[in-house]
Amino acid sequence: MIVILPFVLLNFIFLYYIRYSFMDQKVEIFICMGSSCFSRGNKENHRRIVQYVKSNNLESKISFRGKHCVGKCAEGPIIIVNGQEYTKVAPEDIMYILSTEFKKD
Ligand code: FES
Repeated sequence: MIVILPFVLLNFIFLYYIRYSFMDQKVEIFICMGSSCFSRGNKENHRRIVQYVKSNNLESKISFRGKHCVGKCAEGPIIIVNGQEYTKVAPEDIMYILSTEFKKD
């Protein structure tokens, strides 16, 4: 009994930490605002991301920032969501990318 109780307590603390330490994490979105990506679709992609976030009340759950050219213009427009790089992103892809990302919670 003496050995089991600390193990149960440690297990509870560990699970509590795992559960709540990830709750406040935001979905981090970077959009390449370099001239190539911007002119080839990220202007509209930016508008759609803002629209998606507003219409789903996700303002407090995301960090959305622009980036300078990430050096992959030929693969643009580039959007990076939680470290996952999406290339040749068309405006029609935004809904799928974001809804997939927010379903991971
Ligand atoms: S402008 Fe986006 S990768 Fe160069």
